Amino acid sequence: MNKLDDVCKIISLNKIPDARGNLTFIEGNKQIPFPIERVYYLYDVPASSSRGGHAHKNLQQLIIAVSGSFTVVLDDGNGKKSFRLNKPYEGLYICPMIWREIHDFSSGSVCLVLASLEYDENDYYRDYNEFIKALQ
Ligand code: TYD
Repeated sequence: MNKLDDVCKIISLNKIPDARGNLTFIEGNKQIPFPIERVYYLYDVPASSSRGGHAHKNLQQLIIAVSGSFTVVLDDGNGKKSFRLNKPYEGLYICPMIWREIHDFSSGSVCLVLASLEYDENDYYRDYNEFIKALQ
């Protein structure tokens, strides 16, 4: 199974359209394949800035552009795949052992991340060569 083509995918979320404003909801283990243990978000990101630059050993995540847009580049050690996220009713599912870079943030964009585990620095590979070595 190819992690970039078969596992890491855009998940379409429910959108409740309403003249008063639209609504999207997410429940752990329902619309997404993991329990939600942590939520964090990136905001006030300068256009020239790049986030990510690491992989996780066990963490699963869903990344959503709740406002604006940005590009997520995933790398499984064999190839790369790029996703432009710009819809608040779509999320990008990222499985463990995927290197990710996030860049080209539009002005005022907000990157919401739902995570399957609490924060643990020991779950990170922050060195690309170490990540590649761990895959072998
Ligand atoms: P990092 O995961 O490297 O950010 P990004 O992937 O968005 O570029 O985290 C940046 C800093 O924030 C780092 O010092 C760890 C800290 N941090 C927490 O304390 N808790 C968290 O849940 C996250 C995601 C990061």
